[in-house]
Amino acid sequence: MIAVHKPSDMRDLMRLERTGAHSHIHGLGLDDHFEPKAVGQGMVGQVSARRAAALLLEMIKEGKIAGRAALLAGEPGTGKTAIAMGMSSALGPDTPFTSISGSEFYSLDMSKTEALMQALRKSIGVRIKEETEIIEGEVVEIQVDRPATGQGTKVGKLTLKTTEMETVYDLGTKMIESMLKEKVVAGDIISIDKATGKVTKLGRSFTKERDYDASGPQSKFVQCPEGELQKRKEVVHTVTLHEIDVINSRTHGFLALFSGDTGEIKTEVREQINAKVSEWREEGKADIVPGVLFIDEVHMLDIECFSFLNRALESDLAPILVMATNRGLTKVRGTEYESPHGIPMDLLDRVLIISTVPYTEKEIKQILKVRCEEEDVNMQDDALNILTKIGTETSLRYAIQLITTAQLVAQKRGASEVSLADIKRVYSMFVDVKRSQGYLDEYQSELLYHQA
Ligand SMILES: Nc1ncnc2c1ncn2[C@@H]1O[C@H](COP(=O)(O)OP(=O)(O)OP(=O)(O)O)[C@@H](O)[C@H]1O
Ligand SMILES: [Mg+2]
Repeated sequence: MIAVHKPSDMRDLMRLERTGAHSHIHGLGLDDHFEPKAVGQGMVGQVSARRAAALLLEMIKEGKIAGRAALLAGEPGTGKTAIAMGMSSALGPDTPFTSISGSEFYSLDMSKTEALMQALRKSIGVRIKEETEIIEGEVVEIQVDRPATGQGTKVGKLTLKTTEMETVYDLGTKMIESMLKEKVVAGDIISIDKATGKVTKLGRSFTKERDYDASGPQSKFVQCPEGELQKRKEVVHTVTLHEIDVINSRTHGFLALFSGDTGEIKTEVREQINAKVSEWREEGKADIVPGVLFIDEVHMLDIECFSFLNRALESDLAPILVMATNRGLTKVRGTEYESPHGIPMDLLDRVLIISTVPYTEKEIKQILKVRCEEEDVNMQDDALNILTKIGTETSLRYAIQLITTAQLVAQKRGASEVSLADIKRVYSMFVDVKRSQGYLDEYQSELLYHQA
């Protein structure tokens, strides 16, 4: 028996996000004809790379190009990672998108190829169709008996009705908690999945429409269900192959999905699961959804990883591989020979290359503006202009970092807007790479001088 259900609220837990380097990116910023807008969804310029990424995205959505690979290549800070993040948001939650950086493979406490295998399987979705039994009805009454001690098991009763019948159900602690979490009250129409115990609020009963004020404007009103309380219903849910691996791995169990501490997964477990999934496919119970595996800084992988990837892409359970690098002709790690982008020729052969180009001053200014909005920073015009200059002369990333620090300096002097002086201040406090390198060179020559 292969289990495919993960704890119901896991998605929410994994979606917590803070303001990160790419949090202003919400998609590829396309118009109705799938053409990139000059500015859209946080994306600025880099139009031809975005157009290519959009085309790739269309093919991914149609599920047509499993086993294919694309490479974003271009100078540092030209938006390669940003475009990949844009693709991820545009794909939506039902197509898996896994993002990992080439250097991470060396810091994980498992072998590089196991880590790659897990990343590949995280990027393949299995859409499973199931018949489940649900209980659906209008809540007549919900009653919870709190134990006198305040601790221990809670018990309660739930009365549900349809237009034709009414039944009282006993509630255990877990169900009570689900009910409380969903804030279920009398007059709600709810659905309970019998297998998982998941409670879903479908809306308020029409008969309660008159209590509109009490329900609040966001309430949706639905009819009281007809017929039996218990029904069979077809539901579709998507899990990744990796999730199925972990749930069924006796040594770890699904709790490992929370901690991410999955360790190595036995080959036999994977073989069993592959066999089961292909059986389900034949029976029409499941479809494969090839997702995207994004490997950033791909030149950090070594020849062993590249061979493994190449082989994995041949398999019929393969995702779409998207890679990014800022290297030109570089030695392939673990070998003595050079290859374009540090990727072996046999893998390069199957790759569609998308190149990114340096930004114009106008585009840099626009990106900085978008970042200011993202970080809730008000910046005076002359400050933004000088920051743009800094961006063109040092790097976009450096300029972006100065936004946050300049904001702190402005706040410290009690100002609500970042001024030119604040930018100057942080520019002298935090040096960019060129200046830092300059200082070190100077320092070094002094040292050598003293040694002589
Ligand atoms: N076209 C763009 N629109 C909006 N923001 C962008 C764009 N390009 C880059 N950025 C932002 O600029 C910063 C640097 O870009 P990014 O990290 O994507 O560069 P990269 O090409 O991946 O560089 P590296 O080669 O160093 O990894 C990020 O914060 C990114 O979100
Ligand atoms: Mg990058």
